[in-house]
Amino acid sequence: MKEENSGRKNPVSYFSASKNYTRVSVCIVLLSAGYALGFFSASTINRAGESPATVEKLSDAAPANTEHFPDLLRFRSRCGEPVPSKLVRRTILDRVFNGTSPYENFPPAHAAPLLRRKRIKGWGSTGAVFETLMRRVRPRTIIEVGTFLGASAIHMASLARSLGLRGTQILCVDDFRGWPGFRDKFRDIKMVNGDVVLLHQFIQNAAAMNATEAVLPVPFASSAALGKLCEWGIYGDLIEVDAGHDFHSAWSDINMAYAILRPGGVIFGHDYFTAADDRGVRRAVNLFARVKGLRVQLDGQHWVIDSP
Ligand SMILES: C[S@@+](CC[C@H](N)C(=O)[O-])C[C@H]1O[C@@H](n2cnc3c(N)ncnc32)[C@H](O)[C@@H]1O
Ligand SMILES: *[C@@H]1O[C@H](CO)[C@@H](O)[C@H](O)[C@H]1NC(C)=O
Ligand SMILES: *[C@@H]1O[C@H](CO)[C@@H](O)[C@H](O)[C@H]1NC(C)=O
Repeated sequence: MKEENSGRKNPVSYFSASKNYTRVSVCIVLLSAGYALGFFSASTINRAGESPATVEKLSDAAPANTEHFPDLLRFRSRCGEPVPSKLVRRTILDRVFNGTSPYENFPPAHAAPLLRRKRIKGWGSTGAVFETLMRRVRPRTIIEVGTFLGASAIHMASLARSLGLRGTQILCVDDFRGWPGFRDKFRDIKMVNGDVVLLHQFIQNAAAMNATEAVLPVPFASSAALGKLCEWGIYGDLIEVDAGHDFHSAWSDINMAYAILRPGGVIFGHDYFTAADDRGVRRAVNLFARVKGLRVQLDGQHWVIDSP
């Protein structure tokens, strides 16, 4: 702690003090080792007909000189005392909703006429990866970062039911704003005074699909929500990352989500092959795997990383 503060005030001291210099060297060695591991795993993940060289080039190869910019790699890694799985729902209801379920007295009068009984649309939201991972991990707590209308969350709720998982909670982190211009494709989603009623439509969808006991919205920006889940000690056995697809959003979401992944858990996400956003998801996933020395596995359009 002290070291970090002094480093921030006077960056020069970071490199001049011999104790710190040793730490920097250790970092370089660790990074190189991580890079080497990442390199070999990146060359094994090749699919979709791309040569390893292509994968390497598109993923920006070496995390060059990141040792000079430690802040880029620094994410909070120690979170609160774990809340027992069976208290997760109660904790979120209390901390986020002041004890009143968002499903209570739903819909409010002003939103009711704007909602459709069921309006669900996702992307790859029922892919095989969901069942594969649910069977393997048998999660009690799932954290989804990026929920939109709830297609993937509701699918996981129904899988939990059919796999006989009792009490599995799916926390749905989303600011429920979509993205600028999303209504060009979703004209039937209403807007009232600038509010796009996505949260209300998500709640309506969960109710229509009998999933209200399994899914719970956490309606905030991903960084704010993930930071609080960490602080509160809410961990996921399974974490899906599917929010912002630009590199910096994906990088931040993956790193912050990893901090609340239970040891032995699995983190995964969609759009590994998507070229939009300058292949931001793939670059973030590959860099993350390199830095941590973890292996990226692929399942359809999804990337999957097992925690050690
Ligand atoms: C691709 S959609 C999620 C789709 C969903 N996983 C499915 O398969 O049905 C991405 C969602 O991420 C949300 N999102 C994007 N950036 C966000 C951020 N920084 N914080 C919170 N949510 C965000 C958007 O509101 C949008 O609903
Ligand atoms: C939260 O709930 C408590 C007790 O139920 C209530 O007294 C308080 O006014 C609520 N706070 C807010 C901000 O709604
Ligand atoms: C939800 O539950 C109701 C009442 O038990 C049932 O009629 C309906 O078919 C269920 N819907 C779904 C999507 O499971």
